[in-house]
Amino acid sequence: MMTARHLFTSLAMALIAITAMAQAPKADYRVIPLPDAINGIKGADFKLTERCIVNYPTGNRDMERNAMLLSQYVEELTGMHLSTRPTLNTKDRTGNISLLIDPKIDGDEAYSITVMPNGVEVSGKTPAGVFHGLQVLRKSLPAGEATTIGLPAAQIAGKPRFGYRGMHLDCSRHFFGVETVKRYIDIMALHGMNRLHWHLTDDQGWRVEIKKYPRLTEVGGWRNGTVLGHNSPVNDGIRYGGYYTQEQIRDIVRYAADRYITIIPEIDMPGHMLGALAAYPELGCTGGPYEVWGQWGVTDDILCVGKDQTLQFVKDVLDEVSQLFPGEHVHIGGDESPRVRWEQCPLCQQRIRQLGLQAKGKQSAEALLQGWFTTHVQHYLADKGKRIIGWDELLGCDVDTTATIMSWRGAEPGAKGAMTGHDVIMTPVGPLYFDYYQTSNTWNEPPAFGGCNTLKKVYDFEPVAADLPADKRHHILGAQANVWTEYITCEPQIQYQILPRMAALAEVQWIQPQNKDYQDFKSRLPHLVDIYKHYGWTYRAKSLVLEDEEKPES
Ligand code: ACM
Ligand code: ZN
Repeated sequence: MMTARHLFTSLAMALIAITAMAQAPKADYRVIPLPDAINGIKGADFKLTERCIVNYPTGNRDMERNAMLLSQYVEELTGMHLSTRPTLNTKDRTGNISLLIDPKIDGDEAYSITVMPNGVEVSGKTPAGVFHGLQVLRKSLPAGEATTIGLPAAQIAGKPRFGYRGMHLDCSRHFFGVETVKRYIDIMALHGMNRLHWHLTDDQGWRVEIKKYPRLTEVGGWRNGTVLGHNSPVNDGIRYGGYYTQEQIRDIVRYAADRYITIIPEIDMPGHMLGALAAYPELGCTGGPYEVWGQWGVTDDILCVGKDQTLQFVKDVLDEVSQLFPGEHVHIGGDESPRVRWEQCPLCQQRIRQLGLQAKGKQSAEALLQGWFTTHVQHYLADKGKRIIGWDELLGCDVDTTATIMSWRGAEPGAKGAMTGHDVIMTPVGPLYFDYYQTSNTWNEPPAFGGCNTLKKVYDFEPVAADLPADKRHHILGAQANVWTEYITCEPQIQYQILPRMAALAEVQWIQPQNKDYQDFKSRLPHLVDIYKHYGWTYRAKSLVLEDEEKPES
């Protein structure tokens, strides 16, 4: 017989059960970058539990890896372990998650997610699209131990605005080990990015093993000390260096490819070459001796392109680099290359005469010599099926339009390059140099290059100039943030500089401009930051709460 006490107990228990259900953590699809569409579907939430299996099409290795990565992400975030299973039955409505290829989806990297009460489908035209879809699913989950998560029934879809969505990392000025580079790739994957521009060589250290020139890493990979701060008079006198073996590079390239990220290696030439000159002084105009640089800036000592031996060196290096990096593009730098040595060098002057190069307008004969050198390299790589990317200085050297230009000295060179038929990647110092400060109140910040690129400034960046004619707009391939590491010495400092600015950049790269809304972005940011915290990544917490950081402190 139901006594009043029994009745009370039953009611209380029912109430507890209802409250528990109400409090079961729920997915939120308003992630960063925001999907183009999130439409609710009638029906109960899908219950994500450890009983869910991740299905993938039998025999598809890419989709198998996608399934395993989704399982890994869910486990990292919630502690739930989902098993994976190859299947011929693409539509599984028995409480599981299915990864599907759907040729009808518009866009190679587009995704579609359908959450029904009895099944979830993540679809893409390609496995890359599916991967972006599963990143959305991953980011929608609350971070923290759970045994059941409610996924509201919905249809979600997204497609990136730009095909080139990059991050750059300078591993010359400071060297970062394999695990750090892999974590950087993980962070990029979480943000839907697909190109890692890896700056591997510079005046302060050569970081890629080249079998034909072992001294590049034995000698060029090490400096005898590092200046303190912004070229202060004090040098720490501590030997510093390191490099990646070819085996390590292959491992990192594979790791990135598994996450649909292409690595673009940069071998900066003819300037920023002191690492190589210290190892092989005969490649310079004066013959040295040279030392791997322990300070920051631009040195006058660059490759001597009057010597055939230098051209052979560059080709040999690019042979090995092309083998290591299967992507279409090789970045050959070309920035900040003073020509004072060339002006004085008999061999460089002889080359100028032989080629009949004559100054025209603002272009010196030496500028044209850099153009000739770059074109020589460009043709060499073209024969291997590769295309070059170079910094916007190349626009002043008469290179042809098969060279893709990286616009760094502002956005204007990019617009100019697009007007003249070059493909362009926008990476202007303002606001896309993430080695710059994030506030003008720099007194309490880790040392940075200078400048001030706030979160909002990054968010508001528009890669396509308003007055660029319609028939030139397709030349803007995308945008990238650069992370130079003169003042960045360790991984937490890298993460502090990029997070959460990468979140703002991700919306620049993915979302149509009319759908961008900074306040809405800020309201979605704390959830992404919960994921940063969960992974133990360092980020700039102040960027979540302060807005007026460009004003100097009084
Ligand atoms: C550059 O920042 N020198 C490309
Ligand atoms: Zn020379």
